[in-house]
Amino acid sequence: MTGLSRFHYLNMWLRLAERPRRWWHFHVGPSERQLAEAENLLSQRKYYELYEEIHARAGRQGRTVTSSTVELTCSAFRYRFEAFQGEDIIPQPGAELVDLGCGVGENAVYFAQLGYRVTGIDVSGSAVEMARERAQGSGTSVTFTAADILDLSEDYTSKYDLAVDVGCLHMLVLSGDRTRYLRTAHRILRPGGAFVLYERVSRRDIVLKEEYSEVLNQVSFIYRRMVGDGRSIEFRGAGGRRASLRQYRRELEAAGFEVLKAERAWDMAQRFAIFLATKRARASPLASS
Ligand SMILES: C[S@@+](CC[C@H](N)C(=O)[O-])C[C@H]1O[C@@H](n2cnc3c(N)ncnc32)[C@H](O)[C@@H]1O
Repeated sequence: MTGLSRFHYLNMWLRLAERPRRWWHFHVGPSERQLAEAENLLSQRKYYELYEEIHARAGRQGRTVTSSTVELTCSAFRYRFEAFQGEDIIPQPGAELVDLGCGVGENAVYFAQLGYRVTGIDVSGSAVEMARERAQGSGTSVTFTAADILDLSEDYTSKYDLAVDVGCLHMLVLSGDRTRYLRTAHRILRPGGAFVLYERVSRRDIVLKEEYSEVLNQVSFIYRRMVGDGRSIEFRGAGGRRASLRQYRRELEAAGFEVLKAERAWDMAQRFAIFLATKRARASPLASS
């Protein structure tokens, strides 16, 4: 596993430094001006599309959003994924794998290096561009597509043996979006296929009083993080909703999955959980929705 680098400490320092501002923003509330800006942005784009700004801003500076925190998350995920590979239910290399919300492609390239036939999908065009360059640079062959997973066409139905999500579902705040996302993940798997979900998890159930206000609060908050070479970028919140272990389990089951494993996982940076779910060989009625 990657050790803690200078960037990791700098990131932690930035997070600590933003705490009072963050506390004020999420407890007292955004200003009228911040809210108006957020409303204006959301009239043009969906909240989860705003991650594009982060990728594009880093890209314009010739960097990716990869920071040591992301690297730690990736290596912690891989460690657990490799442990899951021993499970009968996990298709072996050679199978069709889709990386949902693949970002700049670190994991997609890793899966290709393991021998899977990989498609990476992300709604951010900039991320997909950077992911293609990464795959080219590493000499692997990966298909990257810029698309909204919530709107994947019928062409994707029953296409994949294995779907993996490393930190995509938790970006979706609205319950309707989460349901649609998980139903799509279920639909695009072949019967008997597996879904590995690695997400930020909360200790307790998260209940939002008003989902759209939460989106507005998040979109109006400006974060600052280190990227690649030690400089920082500012970016707007683009959604984020953790859930407890049992809430994730319920969401997966409601989408038609059978949950085989649900385990907590620490990755030094944050609290995560990993789930192994399957699309039962006999399709559930929800799969067609
Ligand atoms: C936190 S990043 C994780 C990226 C990558 N999986 C990793 O481990 O580094 C979440 C990614 O999900 C993408 N995303 C969010 N909602 C999406 C959607 N509806 N369709 C496709 N991609 C989405 C974002 O653009 C972003 O790149």
